[in-house]
Amino acid sequence: MPHTLYRKRKSVWGLTIISNMGKIILTGDRPTGKLHLGHYVGSLRRRVELQNSGAFDKIFIMIADAQALTDNADNPEKIRQNIIEVALDYLACGLDPQQSTIFIQSQVPELCELAFYYMNLVTVSRLQRNPTVKTEIQMRNFETSIPVGFFTYPISQASDITAFRATTVPAGEDQQPMIEQTREIVRRFNMIYGDTLVEPEILLPNNAACLRLPGTDGKAKMSKSLGNCIYLSDTPEEVRSRVMSMYTDPTHIRVEDPGKIEGNTVFTYLDAFCKPEHFAAYLPDYNSLDELKAHYQRGGLGDVKVKKFLNAILLEVLEPIRTRRKEFEQDIPAIYDMLKAGCETAREVAAATLNDVREAMRINYFDDSELIEAQSNRYKTN
Ligand code: TRP
Repeated sequence: MPHTLYRKRKSVWGLTIISNMGKIILTGDRPTGKLHLGHYVGSLRRRVELQNSGAFDKIFIMIADAQALTDNADNPEKIRQNIIEVALDYLACGLDPQQSTIFIQSQVPELCELAFYYMNLVTVSRLQRNPTVKTEIQMRNFETSIPVGFFTYPISQASDITAFRATTVPAGEDQQPMIEQTREIVRRFNMIYGDTLVEPEILLPNNAACLRLPGTDGKAKMSKSLGNCIYLSDTPEEVRSRVMSMYTDPTHIRVEDPGKIEGNTVFTYLDAFCKPEHFAAYLPDYNSLDELKAHYQRGGLGDVKVKKFLNAILLEVLEPIRTRRKEFEQDIPAIYDMLKAGCETAREVAAATLNDVREAMRINYFDDSELIEAQSNRYKTN
């Protein structure tokens, strides 16, 4: 493997073991609903590309049910129902269980154990300053009644990432503060207990429109509660009606009026999805997105024409996903089997990290012959 890293680790006997550490991906999603285009351009599409690039030694994709429960404690059924939906969306997009370990967070109890030790390395005020947690608290109107589990989920997320020794976390911009917090925990752990954990890096989408795909109403983010999502499993009719009612430029009333591109959702989506070859296929009067944008800004180009173009592109993107999903839906028990096998693999990997963590913290009492001997000598001399 071209990207192999080497990491030194001290053993109890004072020998230095060199362990071969490859490039490892961990990322995941909360199973609170089906996955939508925001998930797709923010991380999912990239994961599949990275998987197929062969540049990573291991890939772990986690269905974060325990994290989803931190603000859905009264509705576990919602999470339970959506695990299969997320798994189907993953497979439909091209994640391949032969190459990527797909697993469910709650089935790997080592993650809780690790989070418990990390809690001692993070202060309450540091958590309060986490911008993602701050906005999420506002969005959910928690005010002062924030569940402790929700408040501390960045710590739990740090254990998700580090338990798999992930080097790379492909995720949306909103996850940046989580990775920063993880890196701080890793540095603090390694400083106190010796070099044990790997510092991860976030891999953001390389296109600005994909960093923060707005909802179809032009609002900040796609969200189920706002009803502004296009789901990967939507029918062509559903996609079409969402696209045709998309928020554009409210001052662009007649076709001949000049229109604005900034904040115009249809153009943001084109930035995220349009490729040069789409013009020849669906809109041969134009050669490039720049040309289309210039015409819109000049005036004389109607919203409907641009929306129809976007709809054609989205159909092309979503059709193979929808078809594959239908195939996977034919054998649901096989998907649970795949997830179960994934959980077993994930658990083995996390357990190995936990062994290293306990050794580093010197709480591996029964494997520590030096400790047992020293204590025994102490009592013998008396
Ligand atoms: N917080 C992520 C989300 O809301 C889900 C998640 C949980 C995650 N643990 C993770 C993402 C670890 C990346 C790495 O979608």
